Amino acid sequence: METPYILKEITEENILVLTINRPKALNAINKGVMDALGEIFSKRQPEHIVGVILQGSGTKAFAAGADIKEFADYEYDQAKALSQKGQRIYDKIEQYHVPVIALVRGFALGGGCELAMACHMRIGDETATFGQPEVKLGVLPGYGGTQRLTQLIGKAKAIEYLLTGNMITAADAHQLGLLNHVVEPEAVFNTCVSLLKKIGRMGPLAVETTIKATMLGPSQEGYDQEAHFFGETFQSDESTEGISAFLEKRKPKFR
Ligand code: CAA
Repeated sequence: METPYILKEITEENILVLTINRPKALNAINKGVMDALGEIFSKRQPEHIVGVILQGSGTKAFAAGADIKEFADYEYDQAKALSQKGQRIYDKIEQYHVPVIALVRGFALGGGCELAMACHMRIGDETATFGQPEVKLGVLPGYGGTQRLTQLIGKAKAIEYLLTGNMITAADAHQLGLLNHVVEPEAVFNTCVSLLKKIGRMGPLAVETTIKATMLGPSQEGYDQEAHFFGETFQSDESTEGISAFLEKRKPKFR
């Protein structure tokens, strides 16, 4: 049997735990992972499920981004379509009927940072490291990152991180409001469980509608711009150089 891209488990507290299962590629989000997310979050959970914990396998990464190897030779149309698909699926997560908590250990970069931001809350330990390093590849975030980072931490800080690609440490992420809580490594999972158990004691309709009212996602205009520019960067030599440099494990040389 083929190894699943996302492992599923239900705890005794009736929490669905989803684990992105590509540890060797730092849980990079390839087509298989994205399709699995799309399938899971297109369906409602049975009534007894109180919430979802989404995590990466291993301790090194939540997810190190979209799978760079998959889009190395993309042109405008393919890149734009990839971006639109990711935007659509991440929206389903943000609008899900039960709370979804991203459990972040290690890197949450690019499409991985965008995935964590599409969840309703983020809990991590001190290894949690966020960032939108796409600019280093000569591209930009394509799964809602230009919009959600701005919504979550404000325009001034967001533009700095988007333009420099600098990593955001757990302490800074907590201060910026990107991480709800930073706790000891052995307490991360239980912190997520405690929160979801508490929410599970509330009225399910109140929980669902609070999510829908609060998690107003990015505007369509913001998404359209992002997907268009994501496609456009793939038409330039910049992304060719940036992506080749990553794959060849060297620093890119931009003009
Ligand atoms: N896509 C594909 N493979 C990836 C990956 C990614 N985003 N991130 C890491 N990997 C792979 C590496 O290629 C490497 O594979 P090999 O062993 O086959 O060479 C393996 O994971 C381990 O990675 P490193 O050897 O690079 O590990 P490191 O500890 O030296 O560095 C890292 C860790 C800083 C996270 C580094 O891997 C890195 O910079 N990754 C890329 C981060 C990135 O640019 N993310 C944005 C992607 S673009 C995107 O997400 C666009 C979008 O919004 C839609």
